Amino acid sequence: MRFDIITVLPGLLDSPFAHSILQRAQKKGLTEIHVHNLREYASNKQKSVDDYPYGGGSGMVMQIAPFAACIEKLQSERNYDEIIYMTPDGETLNQEMANGLSSSNKNIIILCGHYKGIDQRIRDIYVTKEISIGDYVLSGGELPAAILVDAIVRVIPGVLSDETSALSDSFQDGLLDAPIYTRPVDWNGHKVPDILLSGHEAKITAWRHEQQLQRTKERRPDLLND
Ligand code: ADE
Repeated sequence: MRFDIITVLPGLLDSPFAHSILQRAQKKGLTEIHVHNLREYASNKQKSVDDYPYGGGSGMVMQIAPFAACIEKLQSERNYDEIIYMTPDGETLNQEMANGLSSSNKNIIILCGHYKGIDQRIRDIYVTKEISIGDYVLSGGELPAAILVDAIVRVIPGVLSDETSALSDSFQDGLLDAPIYTRPVDWNGHKVPDILLSGHEAKITAWRHEQQLQRTKERRPDLLND
C-alpha cells in the first residue's frame, strides 16, 4: 500500500512515520509513505502556493496549479485509488472508514490544506474523498494526514505481529475496549479483578464483553444506537 502526501510543511511529517508500528510496516515492505513538498511544484520565483480569495474575506487560499502539477505527475507514474483531502468539513474518520481504505495494494494521495483552505476547483476536479478527524479546526492537514495513515496502516494484514490485536481494538466490534491490567496484582490495595486471575477462559470472555457493553453505554451511547 502506497501513500503520497502533498504538503507545504513536509518537515511536520518527518517523525510520525519513523517510529514503532508505522516504521516496521515500511521496513516489512507492507507500506510506502512518500511526502512531497508542494512548493517544488510552484512555478513562480517566490515559490508561493497561495493567493487572496476572490470576493474578499480573510485568509489566503491555496492555488490550483501547484496541486495539479504534483497530482498529475504522480498520476503519470501509477494509478491511484483515492485522492483524499483532509478538511474539517469532510466525513468524520471512524474505524470502518480506516478498515475500508486499508488494502495491501491500494495507492492513495493525501492533500494537506493550510490557511483558509484550497481552491474549490481542486476538490471538484481531483478529490475523491474528504475526511475530517473531528469537529475542531487544526492549523493544517498534516497531523490529520498522519492520523489517517496510522489508522489505515495498522489494520493492513501482517502489520501487527499479533493480527488479532487490531481486531480486538476498541471500535472493531462497535464497542469500546474492556479494562486491561498487568502486574502487580495488588498496587497499594488496588487489586486486579479476581475473574482475570481465575484462569476460566469462558468466564473471562463473558466478563470482558459485559465490561465493553457497560463502558460503551456510559461513555459512547451513540455507538449502541446505530
Ligand atoms: N484540517 C484542519 N482541521 C482539520 C480536521 N479537523 N480534520 C481534517 N483536516 C483538518
